[in-house]
This record gives sequence, C-alpha cells and structure tokens, in this order.
Amino acid sequence: MSAAQAPTAVVTGGASGIGRAIAQRLTADGLNVAVLDLSPSEEGFGLTVDVAERAQVDKAMDAVRERFGPVGVLVNAAGKDGFTRFADLSFTDWQRVVDINLNGVFHCVQSALPDMVHARWGRIINISSSSTHSGQPFMAHYVAAKSAVNGLTKSLALELGPKGITVNAIPPGFIDTPMLRTAEREQQLGGTIEDHIARTPVRRVGRPEDIAATCSFLVSEEAGYITGQIIGVNGGRNT
Ligand SMILES: NC(=O)c1ccc[n+]([C@@H]2O[C@H](COP(=O)([O-])OP(=O)(O)OC[C@H]3O[C@@H](n4cnc5c(N)ncnc54)[C@H](O)[C@@H]3O)[C@@H](O)[C@H]2O)c1
Repeated sequence: MSAAQAPTAVVTGGASGIGRAIAQRLTADGLNVAVLDLSPSEEGFGLTVDVAERAQVDKAMDAVRERFGPVGVLVNAAGKDGFTRFADLSFTDWQRVVDINLNGVFHCVQSALPDMVHARWGRIINISSSSTHSGQPFMAHYVAAKSAVNGLTKSLALELGPKGITVNAIPPGFIDTPMLRTAEREQQLGGTIEDHIARTPVRRVGRPEDIAATCSFLVSEEAGYITGQIIGVNGGRNT
C-alpha cells in the first residue's frame, strides 16, 4: 500500500474542531475518511464511539474495514481537557481524562495496527498538546496524559519504523475550536483570546486548518523519513 493508492484514514474526534478540519483535509487529499467520535460527525463515514471503550473501538474499526478496506492512516485527535486545582482533583476525573486522552490512543493504535503491519505501510499521528512543553496549572491530569502520548509516540516510532509505519505527534497550541472558546468563556485561559493573540509571535490565533495541513504533510509519501517527532504548531508560543 502507499498513500498514492488512497488509503483509508480513521480520524478520532473528527466531529469538531481540529479533528473535523483534519477529516475535511484528508478527504480533500483523496483519502477515504472515517470519523470515530462521541458526537455525530458531518464529515466522512461517521461512527459513534467512545475511544476509551476498547470493544466500541474494535467494532468501529471492523465497520471501517468493511466499508473502505484496511486502515492505513490513524489520526488520534479525540480529547477532553479539564481545569481543576490538583488538590481538589478527584481520581474519577483524573481517570476519565487519562482514559480519553491516553488510553484512547492505546486502544485505537492497537486496533488499527494489524492492517498497517500487514500492508507494511502506515501513518499514525497523535494530537497531543502544547501544554506538554511547559506544564499548565490546574490541568495536571490533561498534561500528564498528553505528555504520555508524546512518549508513546516516540516509543512506537522506534518499534514500528522497521514495519514501514511512521508515528508522529502534533502538540497544538491555542487553536480556535469549541474547546478553546469554552475555556475562554469559563475564564480558564488567564485572559481573553485577544490578550493571547497579543502575546503570540505570529499575532493570530491558530486555526484547525493549521493542524490539518501539518497532518496532511505527515500522511504524504514525502514525509516517510519523519518519525518519532513532536512537531509543534503553535504560532511560536512554544519554541
Ligand atoms: N484547541 C486547542 O487549542 C488545543 C490545544 C492543545 C491540544 N488540543 C487537542 O486537540 C484535540 C482536538 O481538540 P479541539 O480543540 O478540536 O476540541 P473539540 O472539543 O472541538 O473536539 C474534540 C472532539 O473529541 C471528541 N471526543 C471527546 N471525548 C471523546 C471520546 N471519549 N471518544 C470519542 N470522541 C471524543 C468530542 O466529541 C469532539 O468532537 C484534542 O485532543 C485536544 O486535547 C487542542
């Protein structure tokens, strides 16, 4: 298999924000795109799935195979943030955030992997977070989970490189999505989006399409020598 043969792409979290832009972009690139999300998706072949539930993930992957054939590209964009002082953080909240942001990646990669191994070609892209560069107060669970995703990415790249599969992470920073707007509304950003733009070197908020363009490149044949990398897309906010 090669990207030229229009592989099947699975995008988790593709019903909103960054995942949605990725699903749109990969569709425009000519891939067959399936979306696994808790919410119904307007993009691609949509399946209602909680990525933290392995049985649901496996069932959805099988449905995707039946519809489009083997999975060649997996983008893990499903995510949930949270803002709680660590001392007040319940283990239930900790666990749910880890379940979605980290364990969801485990389930989706393991579920899709046999197709890529069989084809000796694959692309895995994990959407982590720019908060992993420096940490973030009141987001210990989220930053811990996303940091683990970066580590998982590096380890998988070493293990899967010989099988023709690249694995990279994109930690987005300050991207205009429902997640960011909700955080602004709940006064969790330490200022408004406009305040942050003034402190962002490129002087604008990021767009979901910025992440989608990076994803599109990482899926391409031209990116075949790039693996195990954490590729920041953040307007220069983190260097
Ligand atoms: N927006 C930003 O600035 C920013 C910054 C850093 C990281 N991120 C990460 O980028 C990714 C996309 O975020 P976004 O800003 O587009 O947020 P968003 O809230 O717009 O989209 C997230 C999507 O994930 C889905 N989702 C949540 N839990 C799920 C689950 N258990 N199973 C399946 N789907 C689930 C939601 O239904 C939603 O469609 C997330 O992983 C997020 O952590 C975003």
